[in-house]
Amino acid sequence: MDKPPVAAILSDLYRPILPDLKRVEDELTRIAPKGNPLLEEIGDYLFQLGGKRIRPALLLLANRLFGRPDAEAAVFWATMIETIHTASLVHDDLVDNSNQRRGQATVHVRWGANITVLLGDFLYLQSIRLSLRTRHNALIDILADVTALMVEGELIEASWRGKPEIPEPVYWDILDKKTAALFAGACRIGAEIGGASPDQAAGIEAFGRRLGLCFQIVDDWLDYSGDAAKLGKPVLSDLKEGRFTLPLLRCFDRLDGTGKRRLLEAVDGLVSADRTSSEEAGRGILAAVRETGALEATLEEARRSAAAAGSLLESMPENEAHGALRGLIGLTINRDK
Ligand code: FPP
Ligand code: MG
Repeated sequence: MDKPPVAAILSDLYRPILPDLKRVEDELTRIAPKGNPLLEEIGDYLFQLGGKRIRPALLLLANRLFGRPDAEAAVFWATMIETIHTASLVHDDLVDNSNQRRGQATVHVRWGANITVLLGDFLYLQSIRLSLRTRHNALIDILADVTALMVEGELIEASWRGKPEIPEPVYWDILDKKTAALFAGACRIGAEIGGASPDQAAGIEAFGRRLGLCFQIVDDWLDYSGDAAKLGKPVLSDLKEGRFTLPLLRCFDRLDGTGKRRLLEAVDGLVSADRTSSEEAGRGILAAVRETGALEATLEEARRSAAAAGSLLESMPENEAHGALRGLIGLTINRDK
């Protein structure tokens, strides 16, 4: 039986925070660049593409978990988190040379690299500028630290581009920095403005980190096993962009010398200009990750992170937000886009 669409599951999970998420949506349109028709067009394009809004939802839910929610502040900081996330994707698609996101052409494909760099800068600066006005230094520090980690994660990833010998600990470090840090920061900020004790804030931050890790492992797994139409981008994109992620690393581990050599040849063939050779190479790579059990091993790692996130929730107060956070773990591991 087909899984229910992600959007349907999300709207159910988000029910307790729906009015606040709607306000975040309104705030996002206010943050977009104004006063110039071209920039307004790009801002509209970006924010109307939608997305799962997992990071702002995490912040809003973490804010409701500990008994003293502050909806006003939570909506503000959730907007900052989503703005940083959007800025990072705009830059990431340029760095990765990705042509499609959420089924649409990426910003650099439509408007070129110059506009893309400046637009990402603008959005990031907006979030820092507006955050500074709150004078809430502890939270501003979290945003600045998290963004520095994200950039570092992207830089490490870029330095290993095209290199299949990337050690697995480096892969985990990249995931932790480029993805998990923002999930963790969203949870921490939500908790801090929701009356959490220091231990509780640290606990929900650790939960966010595990969930973020799980999210990115599944992202990397979907690149090999997903459906391009649902993903809104072609499969094997990571590999075509020269990024060797867990399914391929685990596949290499399981092959002998000849198998490794063949796989490397197929990786070269994937980016071949000849479409038939490229498709054949792609089929060979997909068969190898499946038949060696590397895909299943990748999913097992995602399940391990999901289980760790679940354990961290156990000591948290039991309420509606708790239930939704638990549901988000299930969605993250079972999603198909
Ligand atoms: C997507 O990873 C990218 C990230 C999780 C982080 C990107 C971070 C930056 C570019 C640095 C921060 C920059 C600013 C302006 C705040 P992916 O490429 O594996 O996933 P994808 O398939 O969604 O592209
Ligand atoms: Mg990318």
